[in-house]
Amino acid sequence: MSNILAYKHIILGVTGGIAAYKAAILCSRLVQAGATVDVVMTEAAQRFISPLTFQALTHRRVYLDMFNIPSEENIPHITLADQANLLIIAPATANTLAKLANGLADNLLTAIALATHAPILVAPAMETDMWQHPATQANLTRLKAWGATLAGPAEGRLASGAVGRGRMVEPDEIVETARILLAETGDLANCKLVVTAGGTREAIDPVRFIGNHSTGKMGYAIAHAARDRGASVTLITTASLPPPLGVKLIKVASAQQMRAAVLKAIRLTDVLVMSAAVADFRPATVAEQKIKKKADSSIGLSIDLVRTSDILADVAVHVDRPRVTVGFAAESENLLDNAESKLKRKNLDMIAANNISATDAGFGVDTNRVTLLFADGTKNALPLMSKRSVAEIILDNVVDLLCEA
Ligand SMILES: Cc1cc2nc3c(=O)[nH]c(=O)nc-3n(C[C@H](O)[C@H](O)[C@H](O)COP(=O)(O)O)c2cc1C
Repeated sequence: MSNILAYKHIILGVTGGIAAYKAAILCSRLVQAGATVDVVMTEAAQRFISPLTFQALTHRRVYLDMFNIPSEENIPHITLADQANLLIIAPATANTLAKLANGLADNLLTAIALATHAPILVAPAMETDMWQHPATQANLTRLKAWGATLAGPAEGRLASGAVGRGRMVEPDEIVETARILLAETGDLANCKLVVTAGGTREAIDPVRFIGNHSTGKMGYAIAHAARDRGASVTLITTASLPPPLGVKLIKVASAQQMRAAVLKAIRLTDVLVMSAAVADFRPATVAEQKIKKKADSSIGLSIDLVRTSDILADVAVHVDRPRVTVGFAAESENLLDNAESKLKRKNLDMIAANNISATDAGFGVDTNRVTLLFADGTKNALPLMSKRSVAEIILDNVVDLLCEA
């Protein structure tokens, strides 16, 4: 199972701004995700939050002083710089950004930043005027040109009470950005993956549609997991769930829109995972105005339905057909037979069959129970597990299929 933060060595640099208290939350999130976190604080940071907080959160020594070297240890700034998989500076003051942009190394944190080959992620936090100052902007341009990644700052209420840009982004967003940076060495790095999610809506009139119970959770889990493994992900979705950071989002509603988006997105794509529940039928005509009921309550309404185009069938014969195509079969009966026939008919490499009549799997819930069927006839029945775990197993198989393709 891929948890990109597990066993990673992260140095968390904390500098002297009000947002230093949020660094404790960030530190806790990183530790909970399995990372080994060494905290390095500037002198000013210690005015805002106690090193003891970080020591208690990490169960490790907190580094405060470049010259405090216990005799038996190596030189901390060199050892830490070498060990790090990632250096996060959050909050990053205007002062520290200026030092970094000029290659200064007058404290432990800036010395580590200069010595490390690990990616550097900075989350600035300051008053809007400090943020907008040409000096700060020039420093950031320079740091980005040297390869540093910027998270934020966000707009919102600042410590002074003013509202504007300069607020440190929330710890969860910094963790997500850290995952993206660490994923650059994941097993799907350099891979382009398109995933569809949610149920399509086929309009009847301006207010009504024919839909289905799909919420998009499975597709979002795949998008999230693929991003964490280094893939460049496009998520084509009908759902309104918050998209994973760093994923390209394309919102669609109908089967026709989803088809157009998929056929456009698969250009130069390695992997397509069709987890959306796409309507097989749509109303033959869409009423321009809301259909009104007749005064006579015995008069009902019939809607003529026509077939929608079959996206996976179109992909199968498309010139830009991805190297690996994965489908989903949501069935209420004859699960494996129906899935196997879909796998063959649509020339898929793999299909995930799920029985949507169970209450703990399929639509809307966070768990799923699927059987994976492969073009070579093999099957793998997975037990009930989280959709994220299902996503990871599907991607493990995608990695294998890419090697064979
Ligand atoms: C109450 C208070 C709040 C501060 N908040 C910030 C801040 O949010 N961002 C910032 O860049 N500087 C802030 N400063 C100024 C820094 O603490 C100061 O520039 C310091 O030298 C930064 O040192 P460091 O970068 O080594 O941590 C604040 C100062 C005080 C007294």
